[in-house]
Amino acid sequence: MAATRKQNVQAAAGLVPAPRRRRTIVLAMIHGKGGVGKTMIAVHLAAVLAHMIDPGHTRPHRVAVVSFDPQLSAGEWAASAGRRGLRLRFDYYPLHNDPEGIEELIESGQYDYILIDTGGWLDNNEGIDVAMRHADRVLMPVTPDYLVLPPTVKTVREVIVPSGLPCSVIPNLWDTRNGTRKIDNLKGWIDRQGWPRPQRAIRRYDDLSDSPERGLTVPDFEAPHIRLQTMLDFSSLAHAVCPEAQDALRPIVAMLEEQEEQAEIAKMAAKAR
Ligand SMILES: Nc1ncnc2c1ncn2[C@@H]1O[C@H](COP(=O)(O)OP(=O)(O)OP(=O)(O)O)[C@@H](O)[C@H]1O
Ligand SMILES: [Mg+2]
Repeated sequence: MAATRKQNVQAAAGLVPAPRRRRTIVLAMIHGKGGVGKTMIAVHLAAVLAHMIDPGHTRPHRVAVVSFDPQLSAGEWAASAGRRGLRLRFDYYPLHNDPEGIEELIESGQYDYILIDTGGWLDNNEGIDVAMRHADRVLMPVTPDYLVLPPTVKTVREVIVPSGLPCSVIPNLWDTRNGTRKIDNLKGWIDRQGWPRPQRAIRRYDDLSDSPERGLTVPDFEAPHIRLQTMLDFSSLAHAVCPEAQDALRPIVAMLEEQEEQAEIAKMAAKAR
């Protein structure tokens, strides 16, 4: 966080502790195909990061979602939340008409994390060009759908590799009702390409697909078991893609894993009765 002049003067006078300066981390959601979960993951990952206390500041992370997608899907959350009198945990900036405006946001130093959501096509996509120039890391969601594989390879070859940016390929939309075969195949395929990925896939939940309409994000889901599962999926993702927050996230992920295991045991015991 950038310190204001007033804060620095106060700090020098011994009135308040000097605020620790940390650069904004920019994460770009990129995939040359629509429907893989770029917007979904940007919004919920942003909410989970904003829900967490930054250990260096003893305050929640300050997070923004910036949309370069003219479809403005991420704006649906803000609009629905507003209609229901709810507030999102992050700031939202639709910058599809002025993608270069992100530079000012980054330089303002007011955010710990900025997540950029981009449109799902590669040709003449100015948003992707600008995102790649400002990003520290790229997140590429993929789904267990055969038709997603060729555009994934194309995106890596044409956008990710030339940028030299670190990229994490995120298995999304794991339908647990069908067991693990399909998601394991997808993870195996990602591993054979030599691409880094988080260990845990994001599961498919109706509550996630309903979330834009309801203006909710995972820390605010009402059903306790869904909140637990989605918090686990997205906290694990944050742990995998935000190394600077890993110390804070490790105990949270361990606690959520433990709670999910206990909930599973209780469910099995109830069934057996
Ligand atoms: N883990 C999930 N569980 C349930 N629904 C999901 C999940 N991930 C994505 N979806 C749903 O899949 C659809 C596509 O997701 P999303 O809009 O995030 O994709 P996208 O990559 O941003 O697409 P586009 O490039 O068109 O913007 C949405 O209806 C979303 O609600
Ligand atoms: Mg989208």
